[in-house]
Amino acid sequence: MATVTLINNETNQKFDFDIIECTRGPKAVNFSKLFETTGIFSYDPGYGSTAGCESTISYIDGKKGELLYKGHKIEDLVKKYKFSDVCKLLISSELPSNEQESLAFDLELRHRSFLHEGLINLFSALPDGAHPMATLSSAVSVLSTLYYDHKDMEDEDDYQTMARRIIAKIPTMVAFCYRNAVGAPFIYPDVKRSYVENFLYMLRAYPHQRLKQTLNGEEEITPLEVEALDKIFTLHADHGQNASTTTVRNVASTGVHPYAAISAGISALWGPAHGGANEKVLKQLNEIGDVKNVDKFIERVKDKNDPFRLMGFGHRVYKNYDPRARVLKSLKDELDKKGIKMDTHLSEIAQKVEEVALSDDYFIQRNLYPNVDFYSGIILSALKIPTHLFTPIFVIGRMPGWCAQLLEHIKNPHARITRPRQVYIGK
Ligand code: SDX
Repeated sequence: MATVTLINNETNQKFDFDIIECTRGPKAVNFSKLFETTGIFSYDPGYGSTAGCESTISYIDGKKGELLYKGHKIEDLVKKYKFSDVCKLLISSELPSNEQESLAFDLELRHRSFLHEGLINLFSALPDGAHPMATLSSAVSVLSTLYYDHKDMEDEDDYQTMARRIIAKIPTMVAFCYRNAVGAPFIYPDVKRSYVENFLYMLRAYPHQRLKQTLNGEEEITPLEVEALDKIFTLHADHGQNASTTTVRNVASTGVHPYAAISAGISALWGPAHGGANEKVLKQLNEIGDVKNVDKFIERVKDKNDPFRLMGFGHRVYKNYDPRARVLKSLKDELDKKGIKMDTHLSEIAQKVEEVALSDDYFIQRNLYPNVDFYSGIILSALKIPTHLFTPIFVIGRMPGWCAQLLEHIKNPHARITRPRQVYIGK
């Protein structure tokens, strides 16, 4: 096995450490015994150069701007498969092999999408203005009390039931958060509608309305809207060891109920530096207000004394265009042509921001490109999704990834409780 030699010039000691092989991307030096053998720690705040696990789930090539789920390029998955197929890929490592299998999995999710009536009282107990991410995190944590038997994730059946349950129920929870926030009655899932269509139905329908048509005869939910949202969910399904996935793994490492670990992941995703950025991008585009203000705005972003950042830009791993942003940008234009009208004003401002930023030295030197959040909000607004539901939409998309990552952590024979060390600089 290849090794790396570390020389401590203070003590003139030499230490060899094994290099861990990988199937793609950078290799790693196995430092798990660094402290035992050398008496010193490695130091890497934010873990920018540190692998905390081996994984087979998603692969990100930050230089090329490439993302794979279980070896499949996301561009291929969004073209050929539904989000529910991608959920199956992530939690059971294989795509449905035919139409029947795909439909059977989607049907199972629909039947599991109902919530325990006791849980429903939680939504109405919260104030109208409660941010849905707070409600979601609480509701998922409460789910652990309703399904307390999900204790042995090493048991394949128990794990599959746990994962399918939470994947199925999270859209219902998001829809109920919204309906409670606007004081509208809850609309229960309709098992005659597909997984993604059901979500839009629970957001939009009125109690008396059972038809596919709205009162003035237009299509209540169009197939194109369902297809667009389905692709958005797929693009968010997993993304390596990002902050919220690392949170799910860390919390799962203490042996806690899987839904408690996922509830913690929802809280981590909420932050504006992470999943909360999509909501902030739209706010920022509205603040810019006009393409003629973009240059001034970019100058402000570059000002070192101003903590202001360009939301939807930059990424810890991508030092190239985020492939998800590329797919979303062309999806935006494609939907606009097919009749789902984007907000052209915001779209023009976003386009101008990208143009100015990508030709500006500040961004070029730092490899700052649009990330998944830069265009998603414009499409979600065109789908009549309210802004404060943007990050909950990210939660629905990321749920299969969190379930897969949690299981991978639990099943790893070397997995221990996550417990980093510190460099003490106090008294
Ligand atoms: C997601 O990790 C994942 O995989 C996450 C995610 C997923 O699918 O799970 O991809 C989803 O969270 C996407 C990112 C969404 N967040 C935003 O869009 C918020 C804006 N972006 C940044 O805050 C930032 O780019 C991060 C948080 C995304 C990455 O931060 P890093 O890797 O810690 O980068 P950094 O802060 O070290 O920045 C390096 C330099 C700094 O300048 P210098 O100190 O070298 O002079 O780049 C600058 C930063 O000031 N910089 C930015 C910037 N992002 C970085 N400057 C202006 N605007 C920005 N957006």
